[in-house]
Amino acid sequence: MNLNVDLKARSSSAPTEEKVLSVTHWTDFLFSFRITRPQGFRFRSGEFVMLGLAGEGENAKPLMRAYSIASPNWDEEMEFFSIKVPDGPLTSRLQKIQPGDTVLLGRKPVGTLVMDALKPGRNLYLFSTGTGFAPFASVIRDPETYEKFEKVIVTHTCREVAELDYGKNLVRELQEHEYLGEMVEGRLFYFDSVTRETYSRMGRITSFIQSGDLYKELGLPQLDPAIDRAMICGSMDMLKDTKALMEAAGLEEGSNASPGEFVVERAFVG
Ligand code: A2P
Repeated sequence: MNLNVDLKARSSSAPTEEKVLSVTHWTDFLFSFRITRPQGFRFRSGEFVMLGLAGEGENAKPLMRAYSIASPNWDEEMEFFSIKVPDGPLTSRLQKIQPGDTVLLGRKPVGTLVMDALKPGRNLYLFSTGTGFAPFASVIRDPETYEKFEKVIVTHTCREVAELDYGKNLVRELQEHEYLGEMVEGRLFYFDSVTRETYSRMGRITSFIQSGDLYKELGLPQLDPAIDRAMICGSMDMLKDTKALMEAAGLEEGSNASPGEFVVERAFVG
């Protein structure tokens, strides 16, 4: 074995060490955090990357999981939105990070919730549940989204009201943003719902699609494969059911290699 070659290969693919800049705890089970972005780290809004912490103890391997990047690609920092799993190997530790701490960031962002995987269209639907909102936090803050689509509809369904806070806050900040506010005005639609607590809008997104109430409330026509495109991010069950509704409306699934009318990706758990 050529040790030099081996070391070089390892160092060029090894995660980089990034500093935690801020942490916000939204509920007992949800938090978001911002970290430094390495120079030259390029990604497409909507992609995910491996993120984690150094292993504990001698010879311990880094503990890495896939995380959607929640910040847009123009942002100098990087943002992530995570659940806290009390006995989850990574999130039980990650939820304790503080500004100044170090996290590990993979070098290769990838994913299908990207503009490149969709054919051109007029309206872009972004369907999410739980932490599936994260990639759309990136997509809705990217000016390219509004260059490509006239209207952008982001839906977020959670079990409890407080779980909506991260998304709600982000949408409000975007609407009030000095430069981006004007761009999203009248074009970004936020549709939230809750399933296990009393709220102004209750029910699964699949029910709102099926009943047509989603379109009625937004004042938009029913899904049309000629003009509508969609991205879906949630649990496996949510993906399956929402995907079936897209297909029933005549939309075809796309990928990076073969753009289509909708794309899906599982929301990652820590
Ligand atoms: P519900 O409370 O009716 O199960 P989870 O934490 O299980 O991923 O759920 C997050 C949100 O997604 C909840 O509001 C949940 O509703 C909803 N959900 C779960 N399964 C589906 C599905 N198959 N289709 C649509 N929404 C779903």
